[in-house]
Amino acid sequence: MNTEILNLTDADNLEESLKGAADIIKRGGLVVFPTETVYGLGADATNTDAAEKIYAAKGRPSDNPLIIHIAEPEWAEDYAYTSDLYYKLAKAFMPGPLTVVLPSKVSVPRKTRGGLSTVAVRCPSNPIAHTLIALSGVPIAAPSANISGTPSPTRIDHVCDDMAGRVDMIIDGGDCDFGLESTIVKPNDDGTVTMLRPGKITVEDIEALGIKCTVADAVTGALKEGERALSPGMKYKHYAPKSPLVLIDGKNSEMLDYIKAESKEKIAIIAFTEDLNFIKKSFPGADVYDFSARQDKVGQAHRLFSILRDADKIDYDVIYAPMPSKDGIGLALYNRMIRASAYRIIKL
Ligand code: TXA
Ligand code: MG
Repeated sequence: MNTEILNLTDADNLEESLKGAADIIKRGGLVVFPTETVYGLGADATNTDAAEKIYAAKGRPSDNPLIIHIAEPEWAEDYAYTSDLYYKLAKAFMPGPLTVVLPSKVSVPRKTRGGLSTVAVRCPSNPIAHTLIALSGVPIAAPSANISGTPSPTRIDHVCDDMAGRVDMIIDGGDCDFGLESTIVKPNDDGTVTMLRPGKITVEDIEALGIKCTVADAVTGALKEGERALSPGMKYKHYAPKSPLVLIDGKNSEMLDYIKAESKEKIAIIAFTEDLNFIKKSFPGADVYDFSARQDKVGQAHRLFSILRDADKIDYDVIYAPMPSKDGIGLALYNRMIRASAYRIIKL
């Protein structure tokens, strides 16, 4: 397939520039577009054949449901059974990086929902995403625009690596703002919500609205208390670089000793900005990637997938990274990193 690349990094009239892209969506084609989280692989969510093309382009099992992206929170009425709780969340966080799982109406094809009775709804804030959905006039089903199993793309070169030749159009909107996928919550009948995937909208953000938010067990994985290293295997591996990623939970000095003792030949180290010099000095042969300052979780979220993808181009014996904490946006980092590492966690 011939893929058109549309560069909108400096566009001033999005409505005009996105007409062709909207036409592709309307006739059942595939368009990759930027959002404030990661790039999405979009198609008309109401068209079964179009949804099928998404699964094929991604190499994704068709029982894994797609998020439908809407231009206004009220669009959800046509596709799902909403509630006061939905509108409370929407008022606070939409447009923005929050996805809400609702009981589906029959207007959403089974294929889009992966056979579930629910549908996940998200109203993105990125102006290109918003304008594209509005011009298309239909909700756009969009998973992250990566081949299944690789980190979600946050940069145009990563999108092209995975999707050139597989879609009708790729829209270049520059680097994605946040860099990790949206927070997914499921409202419960008792007025609480369950967080199915952590993201920029945190547990703390939701609880600040007076809504109790419980984190699903799967988010943090089934790590046993006091275990030193865990590797339950490929089943849980999800955002995976090709070289093994190992998370180190310990002080700098302990980490230094551990890496030295391992004495692997070709290594990469993902390090906080303030530790770069000391790590480069200690491991002159290693490739060192700047993860942002220790306290700058937003910066780390922005860089994580991008670093994993860059590191993926090189055949390392091992990639070491610091173990993130679980508070605030840290929970989103923790969730992605334990999966990317396939639970290879070294507690020092
Ligand atoms: O930030 C994002 O959410 C990005 C951008 C493109 O919007 N999209 C994204 O989609 O991350 P995807 O397909 O890569 O991840 C969506 C996740 C999947 O793990 C899927 O299983 C889950 O959402 N999901 C979708 N519909 C669901 C539903 N009805 N119930 C529970 N989980 C659902
Ligand atoms: Mg994904």
